[in-house]
Amino acid sequence: MKNFIYDICTKVYFGSDGLDCLGKEVKRFGKKVLLCYGGGSIIKNGLYDKIVAILNSSGLEVFTLSGIEPNPRINSVREGVKICKTNGIDVLLAVGGGSTIDATKWIAAGALVEHDAWDFFSKWSPCDKALPIVSVLTLSATGSEMNAGGVISNPDTNEKIGRIAYPLRPKVSFLDPTNTFTVNRYQTACGSADIFSHLLEVYFAPNDTMFMLDTFIEGMLKTVIKYAPVAMATPDNYEARANLMWAGSWAINGFVGADKSHEWSCHPMEHELSAFYDITHGLGLAILTPRWLTYCLKDDNLDRYYRYGTEVFGIDKNLDKKSVALLSIEKTKEFLFNTLGLDDTFTKIGIDDKHFKIMAKKACEDSFINGFIKLDAADIENIFKACL
Ligand code: NZQ
Ligand code: ZN
Repeated sequence: MKNFIYDICTKVYFGSDGLDCLGKEVKRFGKKVLLCYGGGSIIKNGLYDKIVAILNSSGLEVFTLSGIEPNPRINSVREGVKICKTNGIDVLLAVGGGSTIDATKWIAAGALVEHDAWDFFSKWSPCDKALPIVSVLTLSATGSEMNAGGVISNPDTNEKIGRIAYPLRPKVSFLDPTNTFTVNRYQTACGSADIFSHLLEVYFAPNDTMFMLDTFIEGMLKTVIKYAPVAMATPDNYEARANLMWAGSWAINGFVGADKSHEWSCHPMEHELSAFYDITHGLGLAILTPRWLTYCLKDDNLDRYYRYGTEVFGIDKNLDKKSVALLSIEKTKEFLFNTLGLDDTFTKIGIDDKHFKIMAKKACEDSFINGFIKLDAADIENIFKACL
């Protein structure tokens, strides 16, 4: 078990009245605020008007950056950086899902350096400072609202790269489940698959694990299994949206993975899919996850699958370990493809084997992913092929 420091600077307002304090919180960081948002969902559902009214009545000077794409592009980041530098922005307010929050994070960092923002990814330029970020989450999925990561795509080079840097963690996040009522069935399913994957990436660990954290993970997995279908069937079910929202944040805010030192596996593989095909992150993860679980299954790691199967899916503890392991993978598929209704193969979403070799090489950075089991480029290509 790894030693760790747990230090979260994000203050969370959870619930339906949190925005009452938005103006007060943003003002703590200055007067000029850049409001960043996506393709217009917040305009359609009225959140934009509500937020602008709050900011104006709080005496803040509001600048805006709209059109941040799903799988946010480096050009949006560049545009935001320019606005910050030209206008002396003090604080950034991201209103949206993970894409908006991620782009906002890198705008906040880019605003304080001279070099191009893509250098953070292509040259791994240091990221030791950023403008303060406040977020209003509108989609439960990535956990970006409470973590220090941000993933940016560069369509010119077919790259999608994630990076973690402490200054990027939002200072304040507003988590109001009612702001997710308008998320459609598909995005709710993809977001839930993403949360599920964040938990499995940590749970399937090669070395000793902390019983206490495993038990938390199992609880969160069960939460997603219970509430994702409820939110899909009844989008304005507060209890379901609230459970997904808080599980989404805690799945990837450093808590459950604190004692683990292994690398994640499905995420680097999925980032290659999004980089080449611009697919929805959670969909790619859903297709990959059961194939990865199948590929990793070995006689010497059955215990992990046994615990997963019996604790999360309630599979009969009296069955032999191998049978439980196989059943646990079937149950995972059932949840992702039947309950969430996501497509179950690459072929169905228009992905063939054309780029598998290069995608596999990039996913493991021409070396290997040191995850639940070690995966080199050939292994990754095999997993991709199993997804066809
Ligand atoms: O752009 P708008 O118009 O807002 O519409 C979005 C978008 O089309 C829509 N949406 C969001 N909130 C809504 C809504 N529609 C109706 N009502 C609402 N309340 O949903 C669509 C998807 O939004 P997006 O932000 O792209 O989704 P998500 O939150 O899943 O973010 C995905 C991005 O985050 C990255 C992914 O790779 C991907 O680029 N990730 C970030 C991580 C992190 N920062 O730690 C970790 C994750 O593993 C992930 O890699
Ligand atoms: Zn993810």
